[in-house]
Amino acid sequence: MQIIKTVKEMQRECRFLRRSKGPGLVPTMGALHAGHISLVRRARSENDAIAASIFVNPLQFGPNEDLAKYPRTFEDDCQQLEREGVDLVFAPAEEEMYPRINGLKPQTTVDPGPIAMRLDGASRRGHFIGVATVVAKLFHIVQPDRAYFGQKDAAQLAVLRQMVRDLDFDIEVVSCPIVRDNDGLALSSRNRYLSPEERQAALWIPRTLRMIEDRIAQGERRCSELTHEAVKGSKEPASLALDYLAFVDPDTLLPVAEAVPGTLVAIAAKAGDTRLIDNFLVP
Ligand code: PAJ
Repeated sequence: MQIIKTVKEMQRECRFLRRSKGPGLVPTMGALHAGHISLVRRARSENDAIAASIFVNPLQFGPNEDLAKYPRTFEDDCQQLEREGVDLVFAPAEEEMYPRINGLKPQTTVDPGPIAMRLDGASRRGHFIGVATVVAKLFHIVQPDRAYFGQKDAAQLAVLRQMVRDLDFDIEVVSCPIVRDNDGLALSSRNRYLSPEERQAALWIPRTLRMIEDRIAQGERRCSELTHEAVKGSKEPASLALDYLAFVDPDTLLPVAEAVPGTLVAIAAKAGDTRLIDNFLVP
C-alpha cells in the first residue's frame, strides 16, 4: 500500500490505476471504524484497485464545531486500510488541498443550492458546501469509476448524488448500509466523545427510529402522527437535544406528508456537545 501526500503524485498514480477496472474511491476523515471498513470492503469487491482518502476537511466545519479536536488516528487507520487491501491512501496536508496563493485561500467552492440548507445543512450552515467542494476535488484528483458513501450520512449522500448529476461527473455513487454497534447506536468517529451517560441517552435515537419503523409496518403512514408518537410518546432524555426528526424525499430532502416506501426518516440530536445522526429508508 502506498501513502501519498501530494495532489500531483496522487493524480499520476491514479492515471495508472485507471488502466484496470476502477479505481473505487472511499473518502473519509479518518478515525476509522467498522462503518468505514464496510465501504472499503464493498469497494474492494467491485473494483480491481481502490483508493481511500483521509482528510479532515476544515471547509465543512463551522466556527464553533469540533475541527480542532476531531479524532486523528492516522497510524491505526493506515494499518486497517493496508489489511483491507487498499492500494492508495491519499492523506494530504491542509496546505496541499487548499494552498494559499499570494496569501489568498482558494476562492472557488461548489454550492449545491437549496438542498444544502436542508436537514443537517439547516443547523450546520456552509457544511454541505464544504463537503461538496472537497468531494469534487477528490473526484477530480482520483477520477474513480465508483465512489462509496455511507447511508448513515443520508443528507450528504443526497447532496453528492445531486452534484454528480448536475456537474456530469462520470462516477457511480454507491451507498452502503449503516453499520451499528451491538447496542444499536450507529458507528461514528464522534461516538468516542460520549460519556457513558450520554451514550445511554443517545440510544433513544435508534430506539425511536425502530419504533417509527414498527408503526409504519403496522400501517400508520401520516408523518404528523408518527412525529407526535415519537416525540410525545417516548420523550427524548433530558441530556439529549433533538435537532430534527424528519420525513423527507431521499433525493431532494424535501418534507413529505406520508411515509411511503423509500421515504427517508432521519434524526439528528446532540448528546452533550456531540452531534449524532441516524436514519432509515421506509421498506
Ligand atoms: P466520515 O465521517 O469519515 O465518513 C466517511 C464515510 O463513512 C461516509 O460516507 C460515511 O457516511 C461513512 N460512514 C460513517 N459511519 C458509518 C456507519 N456507521 N455505517 C456506514 N457508513 C458509515 O463523511 C465524511 O467523512 C466526510 O463528509 C467526507 C465525505 C469524507 C468529506 O469530507
